Amino acid sequence: METLIEAMKRYFATHFQYYTKAHGFHVNVVGSDFTQRHKLFGKIYEDAQGAIDDIAEHIRAIEGIAPFALKRIQDLGRIKDSSEAPNDMKMVRELLADTQIVIDHLEECHDIATEFRKFGLINFIEGRLDIHAKYMWMLRSTLE
Ligand SMILES: [Fe+2]
Repeated sequence: METLIEAMKRYFATHFQYYTKAHGFHVNVVGSDFTQRHKLFGKIYEDAQGAIDDIAEHIRAIEGIAPFALKRIQDLGRIKDSSEAPNDMKMVRELLADTQIVIDHLEECHDIATEFRKFGLINFIEGRLDIHAKYMWMLRSTLE
């Protein structure tokens, strides 16, 4: 079970970073399509914010400790900070790449949860995969 707990902790940390970045992009976006980008980033950050508690509680359910120290989240997570607020299309490209990182974590967790027959968690992970696949589509379409 330790491998699943560790994978879920890494996913949680990356998800937390993802939420933070999407919220920051929502607030700081500039550009000619401001309203559309602002709304898209808003949709992503609001969903991600809502999922933080669910992911943490799933970690507790498998008897892990959900990371909560910011330093720990930075150490465990794979999403890089933006040093400054990039322009709107650069934000879209960055969030697209970051969404793929979140998906990679989810796929890893799915594989391990399957080994442990954690069906409730698998169901949750599949739901998150669906949501992030939709964001991939929306962000990709914005770039085309
Ligand atoms: Fe807002």
